[in-house]
Amino acid sequence: MNRGKFVTFEGCEGVGKTTQVEMLRQYLSEKGSDFLFLREPGGNAVSEKIRALILSRENGFMSDRCEALLYCASRAQLVDTTIRPALEGGKLVVCDRFTDSTFAYQGVARGLGADYIAALNELTCGDVMPDVTIFLDMSPREAFARKGGADPGDRLESAGMDFHEKVYRGYLRAAEIYPERIKKIDARRSPEQVFASVLDVLKAQGVLS
Ligand code: TMP
Repeated sequence: MNRGKFVTFEGCEGVGKTTQVEMLRQYLSEKGSDFLFLREPGGNAVSEKIRALILSRENGFMSDRCEALLYCASRAQLVDTTIRPALEGGKLVVCDRFTDSTFAYQGVARGLGADYIAALNELTCGDVMPDVTIFLDMSPREAFARKGGADPGDRLESAGMDFHEKVYRGYLRAAEIYPERIKKIDARRSPEQVFASVLDVLKAQGVLS
């Protein structure tokens, strides 16, 4: 049986991930492909509740390890109930954020370290890792300027520019460590230009024909 392909989108806040994921969904719908689109954290009832728990500022202080483990709990649920069965069924799975977010946000920006996150990702996902990761490359300064600032109700978004600069450095580091999987795309261009690059990468990597 042919395993489906697994594609993830990554990047700092406001770089246009959601727009690109939506453009890809539209493109695949028109082609009649068999695909599944998900977002992390979220994608099912349990994971959406964990998402609300992590992101709400009403929960007060949350330790860095608690935050990392909650992201992984949400991911374990998504992998077990949705991603693995879909890949086994031959579907193309596209996920808005995945393990590289945990590397960049919790591993680098929160400072838990690459080894801690690698061990967590291994425990959480096993062999379910992306075939291709599109990293939409834009600095947080440019991205927040374009977006018109951070959402004050979102605990992660409103963590400050120093935090988001570290997240960005985390992504650049991940792209250096995994050059075969993580493909950097310049996200400062128009959505149409960025999407043309997304399609080029997915074709070059054998995800789309
Ligand atoms: P989103 O707003 O892009 O959907 O992502 C939710 C927030 O969660 C965003 O600030 C990035 C953050 N995040 C982490 O810190 N670690 C993770 O593992 C994931 C998946 C997201």
